[in-house]
Amino acid sequence: MRPVKIAGLGAYVPPGVITNDDLSKMVDTTDEWILQRTGIRERHKVAPGEATSDIAKPAALAAIAEAGLTPKDIDFIVFGTTTPDTIFPSTACVLQAKIGATNAWGFDLGAACSGFVYALTTAWKMVASGASDHALVVGADVMSSIIDYTDRSTCVLFGDGAGAVVLSVAGPDEPCLIDFANEIDGHGGDALCMPAGGSKLPATHETVDKKLHYMRQDGAAVFKFAVRQSGEIATRVLTKNGLTGADLDLFVSHQANRRIIEATAERIGLPMDKVIINLEYYGNTTAATIPLALMDARKDGRLKKGDLVLLTSVGAGFTVGSVLLRWSL
Ligand code: ACO
Repeated sequence: MRPVKIAGLGAYVPPGVITNDDLSKMVDTTDEWILQRTGIRERHKVAPGEATSDIAKPAALAAIAEAGLTPKDIDFIVFGTTTPDTIFPSTACVLQAKIGATNAWGFDLGAACSGFVYALTTAWKMVASGASDHALVVGADVMSSIIDYTDRSTCVLFGDGAGAVVLSVAGPDEPCLIDFANEIDGHGGDALCMPAGGSKLPATHETVDKKLHYMRQDGAAVFKFAVRQSGEIATRVLTKNGLTGADLDLFVSHQANRRIIEATAERIGLPMDKVIINLEYYGNTTAATIPLALMDARKDGRLKKGDLVLLTSVGAGFTVGSVLLRWSL
């Protein structure tokens, strides 16, 4: 198998912002409650008519440019998303056309908040095997398209955003992707889902009237699972590689709730100065949180070439993922 590195990183959020105070005019909530329970101050929202592929495009182009490539060099696209432009065609196809990646094949990957980690793992193995030379990994979601803005228990949590990386073969001494651990637990399906719009419950007037095309969640159940499994999967991948939390330079978790990230960091024995938390300004952007966090960490000088980094995610399904890597940019 060939060693694989992250050769380029890009991220994008739409300019529209919804603050906690804006939400407090829409539902019975306060800035204080949201900040205290989640750590979120504001989140971004697309303009009417803007779709997931639209916000993915600038992120993808930035990642390709940083890799020193053009879209025609990309031969494989994996697009992690829960909010595709349409059920079909796939958003990977839409993006391929929008960026002119005419030599790439690809597909969408549905793993909710683990979308980026699972897409990264999939593309990594394609490049490692020689089936791809330059793979584009995208995590992007327009969560505002499936949020019920009259439900205070969910509308405060999510935002819109996009991130992308390009994976290429690493040179012999270059930092590269090291290991991963992913798992799913389908018994958690009811805790976080969008009930209608699929083959089980196709769209009807009744499903719309009952608001079944919005996401629903049992927040407490998701919270408990996320804390337990993020810690478990992180420990598993570290132990497998003879490492502990103390060996890490940076922990980049999926950004759902500040308290989930802090509890996970504590479980793996990490001081908070090795943990990235940027959900304050984005909320939970589902498949985009990890590339957005990597981007902000790099801008702040907290992510440097050669750093040992652990990514973890928990999402609807449930899906759980973790990737250990040496940062290569
Ligand atoms: N504003 C004010 N009050 C609220 C709000 C709000 N926005 N939302 C809920 N409340 C109320 C509830 O109605 C409840 O009132 P009650 O005691 O009178 O019944 C009270 O606040 C406490 O509600 P809890 O649900 O117990 O609050 P909790 O501290 O558990 O926080 C939260 C809720 C933030 C949803 C938390 O459970 C959570 O973050 N869960 C994880 C969910 C998540 O992040 N999902 C994202 C996708 S999956 C993933 O990414 C891991």
